[in-house]
Amino acid sequence: MQLETTNTNKIALAVLGTLLGTMVLGVASNAIFAPMKPAKPGFALPSAEAAATPAAATPAAPATPLPELLAKADASKGETYAKACQACHSFEKGGTAKVGPPLWGVVGRPIASIAGFSYSDALKTMGGDWTYEKLNDWITKPSAMASGTKMAFPGESDANRRADILAFLQKQSDSPVPFPK
Ligand code: HEC
Repeated sequence: MQLETTNTNKIALAVLGTLLGTMVLGVASNAIFAPMKPAKPGFALPSAEAAATPAAATPAAPATPLPELLAKADASKGETYAKACQACHSFEKGGTAKVGPPLWGVVGRPIASIAGFSYSDALKTMGGDWTYEKLNDWITKPSAMASGTKMAFPGESDANRRADILAFLQKQSDSPVPFPK
């Protein structure tokens, strides 16, 4: 009986010891090999909210209308920005064609109307007069307005700068065209 008890105790101790040892090991290995969770999961699953909102429902910030931009445009800044145009255009009265046609009085002038200047078909077939709206479109990206144009100018993407250039163009005229309201 005595022997049996001792054996039972030994077995119990051995089992307990093993359990304890396993626990200690588990804690220690967790400390050593701390599971490294990525800050973000590898890929983001679209949230239900995003999936429910079509892209078209989130419009870009509305652009300021041109008349508003023109109302606060600065012609003297525009003159500076128009230096980029002067590589190809003259602005002064009586100026002649360079790479591009002379631009004195261009606001209100029929498109592609300088006699003797060899315009591209794209510009020749456009028709109408140069309004501020059209000039704004034009200098935003000439090739977008008239695909095949000869005007090798990539465009001015800044709407405020374009308005400043248009304010400068307004002054290059005998009878300046008022800004649209
Ligand atoms: C690299 C040369 C070049 C630069 C820079 C350039 N242009 Fe031109 N521009 C041209 C050419 C060439 C044409 C004729 C385009 C055609 O026939 O397709 C033209 C045409 C135009 C016309 C049409 C004129 C008309 O008689 O119908 C306007 C307006 C104009 N440019 C404004 C500008 C302004 C404003 C800038 C500066 C922001 C500018 N251009 C920069 C070469 C240039």
